Amino acid sequence: MKLPFIFARRFVAGETFHDSVPKITRLNDAGIAVTLDLLGENVSSRTVASGTADDYIHLIKQIEHHTMNASISVKLTMMGLDIDTEFCTETLFRLLDATRENNQFVRIDMEGSNYTSRTIEIFKKAHQEYGADHVGIVLQAYLHRTREDVKELSGIGADIRLCKGAYKEPPMLALQQMPDIREAYKEYAKVLLHGTARTRIATHDDTLVEWVKQYMMEQDINKSNVEFQMLYGLREETMVRLTADGYQTRVYVPYGTMWFPYYRRRLMERKENIFFIAKTLFKK
Ligand code: FDA
Repeated sequence: MKLPFIFARRFVAGETFHDSVPKITRLNDAGIAVTLDLLGENVSSRTVASGTADDYIHLIKQIEHHTMNASISVKLTMMGLDIDTEFCTETLFRLLDATRENNQFVRIDMEGSNYTSRTIEIFKKAHQEYGADHVGIVLQAYLHRTREDVKELSGIGADIRLCKGAYKEPPMLALQQMPDIREAYKEYAKVLLHGTARTRIATHDDTLVEWVKQYMMEQDINKSNVEFQMLYGLREETMVRLTADGYQTRVYVPYGTMWFPYYRRRLMERKENIFFIAKTLFKK
């Protein structure tokens, strides 16, 4: 049984691009850029994966048509990573051809640890072919391997979004305690702030946001070298404040009918959300 969209609307802009346009426009009008994510993951049919690339290519044209300050995010399991790595790479490269033609940018989201190595390998090929102006990646501070990945990928000039990590991972692969994850986040943010053209700080965590601002001030790093990124529906007032303080800001705006797995991750991150959703449902 499919849950009605009313459940998801706190975190998801709409079930269609059309429904999401007013929310995107509102953010752009406030000086905040957006990253559009057509929701979905773990596609098992080549036809569906190929259709997803077509939908994204159409989205690129819509962004231009509406003159939005927007780029896109994709999950490789939506481009066929569960089917075949080569097929997934071809599908992604077809999207990246259109991205380059339209002077757009695709961020490859990072999924669970089963996919990390393959995602990074495909990304490295894409980066070599299309460059940091058209393709970027995400690294998750909770994974032990990120210490090496952040060095390697910043070394090749990759455009990296740093987040904590949203999937349940075992202690063998990932830090489990928030203070440890925060320390790792700071360590990797330093590498990015000193070694890459633009550091994408993706977190709603005030401690980290304040730390990054303070560190940049101490190190005399220009505000234009960082972009703060947050998820749609969370901490909008912080984004407005950061924008007013002269920082680049971007909200990740997911939309589409396949919203359940994304919605579940947001609920699991914070148990209070379950009560919040229940309250909104019963409110007239
Ligand atoms: P943390 O969870 O510590 O929360 C700090 C504060 O933020 C909370 O106290 C609360 O106020 C607020 N908050 C955070 N999450 C909330 C929620 N769900 N509901 C309500 N309030 C909440 N992950 C991944 O594995 N792969 C990816 O590609 C991405 N991409 C990505 C893009 C962007 C732009 C962002 C902001 C995040 C991601 N993530 C992600 C998700 C990320 O890994 C992480 O799971 C969440 O951002 C939550 O961690 P925080 O660092 O925000 O802080």
